[in-house]
Amino acid sequence: MNILATLQDRFRQAFEGWIEDYEPLVELVRPGQNPKFCDYQANCAMPMKQQLGQPPREIAAEIVKRLEIEDICEPPEIAGPGFINLRLKESWLAEQLVAAGQDERVGVPTTETPQTVIIDYSSPNVAKPMHVGHIRSTVIGDSLYRIRKFLGHNVISDNHIGDWGTQFGMIIYGYRHFVDQEAFAKSPVEELGRLYQWVRKIMDYQALEKELPDLQAKTEQAQVAWQKWQEEHPESDKPTEKKAAKKWKQERKAAEQGVTNFGVATKEASAKYSKLKESANLIQAAEAHPNIAQKTLEETAKLHAGDAENKRFWEEFLPPCIAAIEEVYERLDVTFDHTLGESFYHDRLPQVVEDLKTKGIAKPTEGAIGVFLPEQDIPFLIQKKDGAFLYATTDLATIQYRQEQWQPDQVLYVVDHRQSQHFELLFATAKKWGYDETDFRHVSFGTVLGDDGRPFKTRAGDAVGLEGLLDEAVRRARGVVDELMVKKKEEGEEVFPESELQEIAETVGIAAVKYADLSQSRSSDYVFSYDKMVATKGNTATYMQYSYARCSSILRKSGETIDWQIEPSEMTCQDPNERQLAIKLLQFPEVLNLVLVDDRPNLLTAYLFELAKLVSAFYEACPVLKADTEAERKRRLLLCDLVARVLKTGLGLLGISVVKRM
Ligand code: ARG
Repeated sequence: MNILATLQDRFRQAFEGWIEDYEPLVELVRPGQNPKFCDYQANCAMPMKQQLGQPPREIAAEIVKRLEIEDICEPPEIAGPGFINLRLKESWLAEQLVAAGQDERVGVPTTETPQTVIIDYSSPNVAKPMHVGHIRSTVIGDSLYRIRKFLGHNVISDNHIGDWGTQFGMIIYGYRHFVDQEAFAKSPVEELGRLYQWVRKIMDYQALEKELPDLQAKTEQAQVAWQKWQEEHPESDKPTEKKAAKKWKQERKAAEQGVTNFGVATKEASAKYSKLKESANLIQAAEAHPNIAQKTLEETAKLHAGDAENKRFWEEFLPPCIAAIEEVYERLDVTFDHTLGESFYHDRLPQVVEDLKTKGIAKPTEGAIGVFLPEQDIPFLIQKKDGAFLYATTDLATIQYRQEQWQPDQVLYVVDHRQSQHFELLFATAKKWGYDETDFRHVSFGTVLGDDGRPFKTRAGDAVGLEGLLDEAVRRARGVVDELMVKKKEEGEEVFPESELQEIAETVGIAAVKYADLSQSRSSDYVFSYDKMVATKGNTATYMQYSYARCSSILRKSGETIDWQIEPSEMTCQDPNERQLAIKLLQFPEVLNLVLVDDRPNLLTAYLFELAKLVSAFYEACPVLKADTEAERKRRLLLCDLVARVLKTGLGLLGISVVKRM
């Protein structure tokens, strides 16, 4: 039962035939802020003043008169300027608790309007090791997949791996010139990773060598321009009129900004350059392989053109790379229905371009082919001058294929925010191409930062590898678990065997990484911190898992078998802590629906955190095993059971496992 949806429905019925366009008003029925005053509140009377020309309190009274809600709520109260306060009836609450308890889905109904949804997530570029940047797409996508599936949608996950891109040209070139055969025989993935990094470094070095003088010149120009601006605009000329002064300030800022921007870019570039220069081997390789970027592109072009040798390399390199990625997925407990990478669409690209040209959607531009879209300053390029196809072309072919295969109502792309423009152009092009009934969404996310507020990197400046990161999280989790055991020992309780401790550490460590990510608003950047993520207090997976384990342990210690075949009257809450907990438990379905409105799993973590805090307050106020009466003990044990199940289900929907004891 979705309480919010049910209440909103009653308001809808009250408005029908009386008020026009009432849907936005229905949205104003929401969970209350303070349990002292109400459980839910409707704030729709105030905005109705316009339409009805009556004082809001009178309107509120009229709404209440029309509202048929007495089976669910106590008589509504009108407060302040016209708020309608709703309080759920104790008997109704008790009935809902029993229904949720008896339901293996803990009261979450499946949708009446199932949709076919494709979720494109994780999608790493293979042939380079997975790094911290891949966490977000993988865990956010996985949880959106799990939640939609749980709600009864037809969900298809598709890992659109980058298995055909320029990185293959890089490793093919690297393999031809720098491979250590012995290392390759021992661990192809590691050696390919090394080759990728090595070629990348040479490319970076050569690029910086070229760019640095240019950057320095631009910094100087900006400095000159700034000097000139200051001379031409002495402080004494600053206008006093407000608008003009504002404009003056803006111009000044723009002139100064140039110096800062180029200054920072130059400083960063020259720091990177000096660091690379420390390696004599690198300088030597850069000299021996001039213009390596161009050469790697040529290798990629050869692969795409069907060159037999490069195709053979590709066929040899791909499987071990995929196997390595799969190991990470296994550890993260993430699976995909399909893994159709970029290479899968290779044959379809020419025909995509042809079709778009024939339909007059794409046309030549400076030798290339692009789609011109209204309200977009740049064309969406689908074929380069040299005939090569682009990332964009593959994405269009993918849309076409998915449409043929699955006719999705919705397609989500869980990809970082730097690709926003790509997706804007892609979706607009797809619409023009005829896919105008599909709801395409870019579920974008921010960057994972280090302590210094910059993208999270190793000390050497490389991206942090995902496997090492998971190992470290598990190591920290082990530290936390060991501390818990010390406490147990001190309190004379049983210490768990070594094998169990290691298992708990693995579960807790992986969960910590996932939860830390999911609990952030996806659109913002967040600072990665091992210490914070495994903390036993606060909004962390560890705290949630602990809360679950505590509940399970109470249930275990009670020695009773949980049986929900009871009369609703036995579940009537007697204490405000019980009541608040009960309402929170029953709000689980509405939270899941809320998560999907804008694809924000952090709304679920926030809910679970509130739930865990309420449980903690409930234990304080309401002894369970030592309850005063048998009836009280039974009711509280059943509440504990429902808490444990909602926590487990909720965490499960985030891809997080629980442990029975901690
Ligand atoms: N492989 C791409 C990258 O690493 C992400 C792919 C996202 N999915 C898509 N259909 N474009 O940047």
